[in-house]
Amino acid sequence: MSGIMCERSRNNGRRCMLSYWKTIFILLLTLGIAGTFTTFRIFDTRTVQEETADEGIILGFSQIGAESAWRGCNTRSIKEAAANAGIQLLFENAEQKQENQIKAIRSFIVYQVDVIAFVPIVTDGWDNILKEAKNAGIPVLITDRKITTADENLYAGFIGTDSQQEGREAGYFLMQKFRQRSAETPVKILEISGTEGSSVAVGRADGFREVVGSNPRFEIINSISGDFLRSKGYEIMSGILKETRDIDALYSHNDGMTLGAIDAMKEVGIRPGKDIIIVTIDAEQAAIDALKRGEVNCVIECNPKTGPAIISLSRKLAKGETIPRLQHVQEEVFTEDDDLDAIAPRGY
Ligand code: AHR
Repeated sequence: MSGIMCERSRNNGRRCMLSYWKTIFILLLTLGIAGTFTTFRIFDTRTVQEETADEGIILGFSQIGAESAWRGCNTRSIKEAAANAGIQLLFENAEQKQENQIKAIRSFIVYQVDVIAFVPIVTDGWDNILKEAKNAGIPVLITDRKITTADENLYAGFIGTDSQQEGREAGYFLMQKFRQRSAETPVKILEISGTEGSSVAVGRADGFREVVGSNPRFEIINSISGDFLRSKGYEIMSGILKETRDIDALYSHNDGMTLGAIDAMKEVGIRPGKDIIIVTIDAEQAAIDALKRGEVNCVIECNPKTGPAIISLSRKLAKGETIPRLQHVQEEVFTEDDDLDAIAPRGY
């Protein structure tokens, strides 16, 4: 397994390199300076938590891959938070395959980590491996994407995005933008959705339909999965534009796909943000820059900076404490009507 930062003891199988970190920690405590390096900011940057550096906790984390700038930031956030907290992180990249995630989680169980956290690439198919973790007495934290399960007690809690709300926000923006439009000439919307079967793609589609789905002034003319990949956003938009240019709005489930679709529009002389109104999700810097240029009309934030929160929850779980079943992260909506100069650099 790559990324393992320690070796386990064959005898008790529960701790690795513990004595080294424990010695350093005790030394620092003795010197009375431990508290000086333990402050970090939690994910929403509004709550600051003071916590004591933990040594000895081992967190196994299964990430789904590196499909987007958002994912890169999410990975960095987790790695940095673990390093800052002195938590040993066993990090595995599943390269977009559920079977790789299951293998990684199983290896964490064999390794007897203290806590397992993972981003489920799709909603279904986790119950067996979660039962294995439960039988081994290892608490599991689910993050970013949700699962469907026959038994909610198989995992300790979830922290991540509210994808349903993100979809609703996209709908609200288009309702407002096209408020003059009548049902005689409905707004024609192309949806480029995320990975099929993922909770975020399902939530973003459902939330959107909750708002515009049964409104006769709106028509979703096509919905195609671009797997959260910029290259697929480009391909989908190029293909659609060969068939029709009668599109009023693009609703894209992530910025990567949006940026690809914008490239395709420009290639054929369509002005993004003007000829086709664009609503996108994530809020990476490139999308905010496109919003500033008027090539995107609305950017809905999906917050990737969950590392500190994941670490904080993992510490609680390692101590045997319970955590909230469901925690959604703080997210904003940026539109063409806002003061765009006031948007702080996104950092990804
Ligand atoms: O699960 C979150 C989604 O996955 C982000 O919107 C997307 O960019 C990422 O790849």
